[in-house]
This record gives sequence, structure tokens and C-alpha cells, in this order.
Amino acid sequence: MAVLAYKLPQPWLDAIMAAGSHLDIRTEVDGKAARDIKSIVFAWTPPTEFEAYPNLRLLQAVGAGVDRVVMKGSIPPHLLIARVVDDSQAECMSEYVLLHVLRHHHRLDHLQREFAHRRWEFGVRTPARECTVGILGLGRLGTDVARKLAIMGFRVRGWSRTPKVIAGVECFAGRAMLDAFLSACRHLVCLLPLTPQTTGILDKRLFAALPKGSYLINVGRGEHLIEADLIPALEAGILSGVTLDVMREEPVPASHPFWNDPRILITPHTASVMYPRDAAPQIIDNLDRVEKGLVPENLIDLTIGY
Ligand code: NDP
Ligand code: OXD
Repeated sequence: MAVLAYKLPQPWLDAIMAAGSHLDIRTEVDGKAARDIKSIVFAWTPPTEFEAYPNLRLLQAVGAGVDRVVMKGSIPPHLLIARVVDDSQAECMSEYVLLHVLRHHHRLDHLQREFAHRRWEFGVRTPARECTVGILGLGRLGTDVARKLAIMGFRVRGWSRTPKVIAGVECFAGRAMLDAFLSACRHLVCLLPLTPQTTGILDKRLFAALPKGSYLINVGRGEHLIEADLIPALEAGILSGVTLDVMREEPVPASHPFWNDPRILITPHTASVMYPRDAAPQIIDNLDRVEKGLVPENLIDLTIGY
């Protein structure tokens, strides 16, 4: 049986070909050859029609979030979907979140604006041990971020769907505990997957449950944020600033009002980079598992959407 490497960016294709030289990996199939395909490796979206692939078993993403596939809801139920879970991606995400928490904790964004006017403003900041950082999503990435912030000395709390116990992290679970979780968060980090339950979660209702002047970091998905609620929350001082690594429309159009707001920092979905060379072996391992009739790893549970 064969693997279809579907519209993979060249660095991914090179890494998959190198690590999977024992497999029959094809970049195109037509007509009857599609019957040979047992797994499809894809970047953002796989093919939309599956009838041509009667022996297909696995859709293997080369990223962490698979919402673009799962949210479409058109995947035949017999297909498995797997994502990549990668330590170096978690390390990279933690660096990014720490950078932006510290940037705000040290008031660097404010000082930069003051320095532009050559103003020397001495201010005392709250010690980290008195400052709570909240993480929405305590999965592979959120847990690493939470642990590292705790090591830095911050008070850390996290929110997940199911209850968790993580040393040094105060854990909350479920919608019923969301407001209690939010009530102390001076910094709020969104590391949720995008599902029908989490779409639009960053809205005016949620902002109102935070302490006044909190800082938001969205590294989940652009669709978590109700964009129309953001500038009013900044204007009202409910939020003091925002870092957005993900946006509803990527690349963000030059005309988007967020570009012009000094309280909003946008980065181009680069919070956490996955290196094809690091991730390719686990992808090949999953393809081998399918060939041997074994269950692949890091599967998405379609009943919960992540
Ligand atoms: P995981 O699937 O490992 O973790 C998801 C977490 O979110 C879990 O703790 C889960 O709870 C929680 N969760 C899911 N739904 C709900 C809900 N309805 N209510 C409360 N908690 C919920 O994901 P990762 O940590 O690997 O990645 C998270 C997301 O980060 C990805 O889906 C992607 O969107 C984004 N991402 C962004 C990148 C970037 O560069 N900006 C790079 C990589 C990922 P439970 O533990 O109970 O299941
Ligand atoms: C993502 C990724 O899911 O980069 O955003 O893997």
C-alpha cells in the first residue's frame, strides 16, 4: 500500500521522504492508483473528497491543531486523524508565552511608548509571586507553559475540560468554573483547540470576568476571539494590552484596524515552530503502524473535536 503526501510544503516533503525512504510515498495519484493509498499526510487541509480512496485509513496532519479538518465535519467516520505532538514545539511555545508575559509584567510595551517621547518613568511593579497567569487549555502545550511560568515564580492557574492535577498549578475544569478561574488572571493565555465549544470564547463576557487591566495572549486560533469585542475592552480599560499570534484571517489584511492600535501586538502565527526534521520520525512511525494494522498515535477524538 502507498502514502499520499498531499500538497506538503517542500521542507516537509523532503523530511518525510528522507525519514520514510522504505515507504511508497507519492505526491500525486490519479485514477486507479488512488486505490493504493492507505494514508494521506497533509499540511493544513487534506483532500475534500474521499470516494477515490477506498482503502484510506489515516489522515496524518503535519501540525498540532487540526481544526481546519475537524470543524468542516465532512470526514467519513471510519477514517482516523492524527496530529503531531512535538517537544520542541512545546518548548518554543513556552518561550513565546514567557516572552510576552514578561514583556507585559515589566511594562515594556508601556515604557517603549514613553521612551518614544524621551520620558523617564520610574515605576514599581508587582512581584511575580503576586501576579496570576491563567492558561486556557492544559494540554500538551498549555501544561508546558504553565510549569515554566510556575518555575519563574508566577502564580499559575489553568482551565481545562476535564479535571487535572499539575504540581504548582491551580487547576479549574469545565464551564461552571470558568469565571472563578478568570477572576484572578492578570495575564490570560489562550491555548485551547478550536472546537464548537471554544469558538468565540474570548468575548466581552469573558473579558468582564477578568480583573480590570488584564493582558491577553491568544496563541490558540483567531476564531477564539470575537474581534469586535477587543477594542471596546481596551478602550474601557478592561484589558490593558493584547498579543495576538493567530487571527481569523491570515495573513492579516493591511487594512485591519488592529495593526494601528499600539495596545495590540500581532505576530504572524509564529509562536511555535515545528521543525520537519524533528517531527518526521513520528509521522513515519504512524504510517508504519497503519501498514502493520496497528493503531496510530496522537489521534484526534472526533467526538470532542481535538
Ligand atoms: P491539546 O489537545 O493537547 O490540549 C487542549 C487543551 O484544551 C486540553 O487541556 C483540553 O482539556 C482543553 N480544552 C479543549 N476543549 C475545552 C473546553 N471546551 N473547555 C475547557 N478546556 C478545553 O492541544 P495542544 O496543547 O497541543 O494545542 C492547543 C492549541 O494550540 C492547538 O489546538 C492549536 O490551535 C494551538 N497551536 C498554536 C500554535 C501557534 O503557533 N500559535 C502552534 C501549535 C498549536 P482536556 O485536557 O480536559 O482534554
Ligand atoms: C498549529 C501549528 O497548529 O503550527 O498552529 O502546528
